[in-house]
Amino acid sequence: MKIAAIENPRSRQEELGQFLTATSVADFMASMFGPLPRTVRLLDAGAGAGSLTAAFVSRCCEKRDGIRAIEATLFELDREILDALAETMRDCEHRCAEAGISFTFTIHSADFIQEMSARVSGDLFRTHPPVFDVSIANPPYRKIGTDSVERRALRSVGIETSNLYTGFIALIQRLLVPGGQLVGITPRSFCNGPYFRPFREDFLSQMALRRLHVFESRQAAFRDDNVLQENIIFHAVKGRNQPDEILVSSSSGERGGDISEALFPFAEIVHPRDPEKFIHIPVAASHATAKETMASLRSSLASLGVTVSTGRVVDFRLKDSLRKEPERGTVPLLYPCHFNGGTVHWPKLEARKPNAILDNDETRQWLVPSGVYLLTKRFTSKEERRRLVACLFDPDEVKTEWVGFENHLNYFHANGHGLERTLAVGLYAFLNSTVVDQYFRRFSGHTQVNATDLRTLAYPDRDTLEAMGREMKTLDHSQDEIDRLVTKYLHAR
Ligand SMILES: C[S@@+](CC[C@H](N)C(=O)[O-])C[C@H]1O[C@@H](n2cnc3c(N)ncnc32)[C@H](O)[C@@H]1O
Repeated sequence: MKIAAIENPRSRQEELGQFLTATSVADFMASMFGPLPRTVRLLDAGAGAGSLTAAFVSRCCEKRDGIRAIEATLFELDREILDALAETMRDCEHRCAEAGISFTFTIHSADFIQEMSARVSGDLFRTHPPVFDVSIANPPYRKIGTDSVERRALRSVGIETSNLYTGFIALIQRLLVPGGQLVGITPRSFCNGPYFRPFREDFLSQMALRRLHVFESRQAAFRDDNVLQENIIFHAVKGRNQPDEILVSSSSGERGGDISEALFPFAEIVHPRDPEKFIHIPVAASHATAKETMASLRSSLASLGVTVSTGRVVDFRLKDSLRKEPERGTVPLLYPCHFNGGTVHWPKLEARKPNAILDNDETRQWLVPSGVYLLTKRFTSKEERRRLVACLFDPDEVKTEWVGFENHLNYFHANGHGLERTLAVGLYAFLNSTVVDQYFRRFSGHTQVNATDLRTLAYPDRDTLEAMGREMKTLDHSQDEIDRLVTKYLHAR
């Protein structure tokens, strides 16, 4: 089967989180459902123009697998799209009539979160909430503040989550009958974002994951504060028991791209003893090798005596202390723009960012003493080939007593001080290797690399890292040379 990515958002609808699903993706989603009851009570929350319900109806009409009736319930907040939605539903009626299936629909021009939270909590007329056999969803995607009406409504039914899409999914799962099925397309951030941990726990305790599909292309993306997010499609069934195996598939996201798929033990997707409940997503055969290599590593960053932290200088809070050019009383301030291959290029006077920060009583707390530090970018642009980009801060190259690392960087240090050079260079080689990059991509859907992600990664032991560090005489190696070196040491252990 060939499927394509999601259509581009229309800018005026960003507030509504209105990203309409392309027909090919909707059809693909509809094909994921397992066996269905004869009468299907269908929920489409955040229905837009109804393309997901239409795809579901087409699937039922084509398959003719004993379905007699579809009762569709649709929620949509945007009044301007309601006519289009009603028209799609009339098309569905015709389609079903031809296939001998009864089709009824109710469109609620209402806020799904408010309405269903009230129904689930029993606040509204003391009635029972509706129940559904099936839900197909592309929920709106937007952050919701701690005090927002949405957050409060969700909290009233015990759901604590910071994004509208996870709020939608958490409510939908409460409205499904046991054995009820959900196919959803959402950003991939819930799989490993630290803020989504309560959601993951809630979701995995009520829903059995059956299938995951990822798009490898960032064209299939939602936009959030300019951080591109990749999409994921999942099929889950209401019930407590996770399956032994789960089907994981991927496609480029380009129209006409092929799909590759493989079965994985569930324990490889969500590690049984992982308190974070990260959802790891292997996508391709090459990633399997990366996974095996990484699984053979036993050291944690902590056991190496190394810590990773986010750069402490938050520039907009310290505006008055920043200087475009170094001057008396300042020390170097490093941003990702100072990355220059394996090392830093400082100062960079042609860059828009400041190069220096005042060193005084107020700012000293945000600085670190000079030393060898390994730096990684927290955000990579979509043009960058690697998601994990590491470089070395070398005090021999930038002479200073103190240095500031800006908040868009993560830095590896030994208890607030610099690292021993060979260890730092070994870590540099390891983190810049393709194996780590691929492993990282498996579970990190977005272009952001959090310090938590780097902290939970497995590392080679100190001897191996130091041996790699000794062999790296310079830092200007090509990707192939780094990979050969890292592979040699990891396979020699
Ligand atoms: C990501 S779009 C998906 C639309 C459609 N399901 C599709 O796949 O093409 C989400 C939809 O949810 C609607 N929406 C946003 N907030 C909502 C809310 N609180 N209740 C109901 N609908 C909402 C938006 O107007 C938008 O049409």
